[in-house]
Amino acid sequence: MSNNNNSDLTQIPGIGNATAKKLMAEGINSYEDFINADPKKIAKIVKSSEKKVLDWISNAKELISSQDIELSSETNEEIEETMEFVIEESEKPDIQKEKSQGKIDYGISDLPGVGPATLKKLKEAGLLSLRAIAITPKQIIMDDSGLGDKTIEKIIKAAQELLNINFKSASEVWEERRLLKRISTGSSNLDEVLAGGIETRALTEFFGEYRTGKTQIMHQLCVNVQLPEEKGGLNGKALYIDTEGTFRPERIIQMADALDLDYNKVLKNIIFARAYNSDHQIMLAKDASNIIDEENIKLIIVDSLIGHFRSEYIGRGTLADRQQTLNSHLHDLLRLTEIHDDLAIVVSNQVQSKPDVFYGNPLRATGGNIVAHGSTIRIYLRKGKENQRVAKIVDAPHLPEAEAVFTLSEDGIRD
Ligand SMILES: Nc1ncnc2c1ncn2[C@@H]1O[C@H](COP(=O)(O)OP(=O)(O)OP(=O)(O)O)[C@@H](O)[C@H]1O
Ligand SMILES: [Mg+2]
Repeated sequence: MSNNNNSDLTQIPGIGNATAKKLMAEGINSYEDFINADPKKIAKIVKSSEKKVLDWISNAKELISSQDIELSSETNEEIEETMEFVIEESEKPDIQKEKSQGKIDYGISDLPGVGPATLKKLKEAGLLSLRAIAITPKQIIMDDSGLGDKTIEKIIKAAQELLNINFKSASEVWEERRLLKRISTGSSNLDEVLAGGIETRALTEFFGEYRTGKTQIMHQLCVNVQLPEEKGGLNGKALYIDTEGTFRPERIIQMADALDLDYNKVLKNIIFARAYNSDHQIMLAKDASNIIDEENIKLIIVDSLIGHFRSEYIGRGTLADRQQTLNSHLHDLLRLTEIHDDLAIVVSNQVQSKPDVFYGNPLRATGGNIVAHGSTIRIYLRKGKENQRVAKIVDAPHLPEAEAVFTLSEDGIRD
């Protein structure tokens, strides 16, 4: 079957045994037959795309013109087992070869075993990219897509391989961090303690008592993210998930005016969603994945992260249940920052006063340790004189515990 003669169609890169058999059954027995056949007809016979067939034809031409046909002739027993699989497989790119050529622009449909039906299920589950598949836990993909255990395991592994998700050197990590983009808060004091502003690929949590400026900062970031990079923005849109009903377009207009921006445009670039309860909030975060790239969203706001959880779980379930649901919600959000480029997530968190604490700060963010561990950067806000506020960086892996004073003004966040 695999001698190097002119009738072994499997020698053509991209054509497997099953495909070759189908072609031979239709009277296409040699390279010449193959090259001269109608690509449309071949596509039908082997149930593949015309584009793939054209690729195979050019492969066949190359093969003929090169005299040294030196291809490996292993017949893959495993692949022979399922015809379907061979067809799907034969459409897949030669990953190793293309990787070495620096071609990395793969999609989900390049994964082995992913045909139209699977693709549809993955998309419906909000898994739109290889990165999404590579880093989403198997159980979550299972729950959201309804696909089977084995299938998911296989595609996750393949996605990780395609993306080269494995070990990397500290210098690569450094290079990535060096290129991290940031959004200016509007206050250079605050930007400075944040090493330049709100980090992308991270979740930043502002926590503090009422009226300490959490919601004001979030409004300001929705405006600033739209600025060009040299002005502290990311040229992108914002998605605002409002759980408390405190989003005010009139504040956006004031802030846009203060920066001489056309407020109509600025308002249009803020996609707003009111979350009515914690389930709805969780759903919105999951759905966000579908619009982030399409709408060029660079900032997601959740104001506030745990308000609904706190009120709803009073009469329902235990604290452990709440923590678990909150934890998975937080991880859904964190995952978005890993899946999508240059995306910042900013959440607010109310504080509860804990008079029974005898040491440390009596004001602690609600949500307890779960929120503390899931967030990447935490900023504690407190009131200063009049409209001044003090921000203190807490728990950031790479920032000192510095403080910054900023003011809340009609124009927005300023020094
Ligand atoms: N138009 C404005 N001009 C000047 N300052 C304003 C304006 N609107 C709001 N502020 C300032 O913002 C403060 C309210 O801050 P913000 O709503 O961000 O608090 P918060 O931390 O979100 O509180 P909560 O926990 O209640 O949601 C007001 O006390 C005021 O100082
Ligand atoms: Mg608020």
